[in-house]
Amino acid sequence: MKPSFAIVGCGKVGTAIGKFLSRAGYGVAGLASKSLSSAKRLSEIIDADQYSRVNWEITPKADIVFITTPDSVIKDVCDTLVQHDGFCEKAIVLHCSGVLSSTILSSAKNCGAFIGSLHPLQSFVSVDVSKNPFEGVIVSVEGESVAVNAAREITKDLNAIFMEIKTDAKTLYHASAVVASNYLVTLLDLSFRLIEAAGVPRAEALKILKPLIKGTLANIEKVGIPQALTGPIERGDVETLQRHITEIRDKMPDLLPIYKTLSRHTINIAQAKGNLSESAIQKLKQILGPSMD
Ligand SMILES: NC(=O)c1ccc[n+]([C@@H]2O[C@H](COP(=O)([O-])OP(=O)(O)OC[C@H]3O[C@@H](n4cnc5c(N)ncnc54)[C@H](OP(=O)(O)O)[C@@H]3O)[C@@H](O)[C@H]2O)c1
Repeated sequence: MKPSFAIVGCGKVGTAIGKFLSRAGYGVAGLASKSLSSAKRLSEIIDADQYSRVNWEITPKADIVFITTPDSVIKDVCDTLVQHDGFCEKAIVLHCSGVLSSTILSSAKNCGAFIGSLHPLQSFVSVDVSKNPFEGVIVSVEGESVAVNAAREITKDLNAIFMEIKTDAKTLYHASAVVASNYLVTLLDLSFRLIEAAGVPRAEALKILKPLIKGTLANIEKVGIPQALTGPIERGDVETLQRHITEIRDKMPDLLPIYKTLSRHTINIAQAKGNLSESAIQKLKQILGPSMD
């Protein structure tokens, strides 16, 4: 028989976990959220009758308690649950933060629960989910071994991919995900602004650049980094880099610092690829000037 679970924090992630674990046969011990309407909404989605705006009313009978509140209140929510005897003996207590480790649940550990964190590498943008958002997604897990083993089963039942991570590695792992997802948006915004300044309507930017973006991703998949790097820096084309800098300085000076920072980092990648001569490296660095950091 599958264990029972409680959700504390019926937002985007809590709703997705609640919906797809209940679909996988896990029993619903209860649902709680700051506002009753959020808990009630999830209870209607998964046909559960135990819901409340008082967290500790619905957690004591749960084998697994998910604290899916915003990161900033996970610790307080956990501590308050402990104060109100909110965990059954040997309960498994999990949060889903990417940046925080299981250690912020230590008050639960001190009262006999097993603590862990389970972070799906997925972007949840709404509480309305019809398709399983965990399908094929990496879920990084750390914590006490009992909690990690439970999370392994949960991951399997969500059709996700389990990956164990060191407790003290979470912050850098999360930073990596932020760069790959959020800063990719930032990078493309930068590219779109430049193409727009070149006279292409912004609405057309993605259509025009998409084959290039997809080709680059395919090259990274095929030959990896640094081999996938092409372009003026990789060729040691000092004149082209100088033209870019002059034009950006004239027309879009606010973009110059980030352009230079990316170029400096790209020199390192080109260097690792091994085609750049030492004199080209020095000239490129000279154009870019010293780093401001
Ligand atoms: N969104 C993502 O893409 C994503 C991806 C991976 C991991 N995560 C992690 O998942 C966790 C939840 O994020 P989310 O995006 O689902 O946030 P969210 O949509 O804002 O949901 C958080 C929920 O917690 C409830 N809540 C707030 N304070 C509470 C308290 N003191 N007691 C009980 N419930 C409380 C909120 O209240 P009401 O609705 O009741 O007002 C809300 O429903 C976070 O740790 C986040 O880092 C998020």
